[in-house]
Amino acid sequence: MNVLVAVSSKHGSTREIGGWITDVLHANGIAAELADADDVGSVEPYGAVVVGSAIYMGRWLAPARDLVTREADAVRARPAWLFSSGPLGAGIDDAADAAEGDRLLGLVGGRDHRVFAGRAVRDEMGFGERAILRMVKQPYGDHRDRAAVEAWAVSIAEALAATPALVR
Ligand SMILES: Cc1cc2nc3c(=O)[nH]c(=O)nc-3n(C[C@H](O)[C@H](O)[C@H](O)COP(=O)(O)O)c2cc1C
Repeated sequence: MNVLVAVSSKHGSTREIGGWITDVLHANGIAAELADADDVGSVEPYGAVVVGSAIYMGRWLAPARDLVTREADAVRARPAWLFSSGPLGAGIDDAADAAEGDRLLGLVGGRDHRVFAGRAVRDEMGFGERAILRMVKQPYGDHRDRAAVEAWAVSIAEALAATPALVR
């Protein structure tokens, strides 16, 4: 099994989530490769794909969105999972945050799309980013739930183990 875990991240926290997912797949005996979506030309070499992006102003970052859209036919032919990372503070169940990942999931007929809480560090933000976070009253801090991410990754490993015909 060779799983692509492709991410788009501006400040690094979504890339780190991709790393947690990759580590869980490895721990379950599955070969997996973490890559920036920007660096992925094709998903053809992979038996399954996980693509994730940070959410900015309700949208995925362009490299992850473009990868899923450009490679839609090839992604559809494989087991695929998508995740979004963004919400800060209490709720991770805002439909607006899930919208783009849900739309892309439909495009590729993927197995699941999950929204995970994100991280915002004041010192890493530019003036514009700070102004927007102030405006939408989002709190700084690392709100990520590593256990939730790892549990999701275990469910991916279990699904892949149940589809051995797809193992390469
Ligand atoms: C300018 C700005 C806009 C954002 N817009 C959203 C948003 O629309 N929805 C959301 O859930 N999170 C939003 N966030 C939070 C980010 O998605 C969150 O900080 C995320 O973890 C960043 O991931 P990264 O470190 O991989 O770039 C926004 C953050 C900034 C700075």
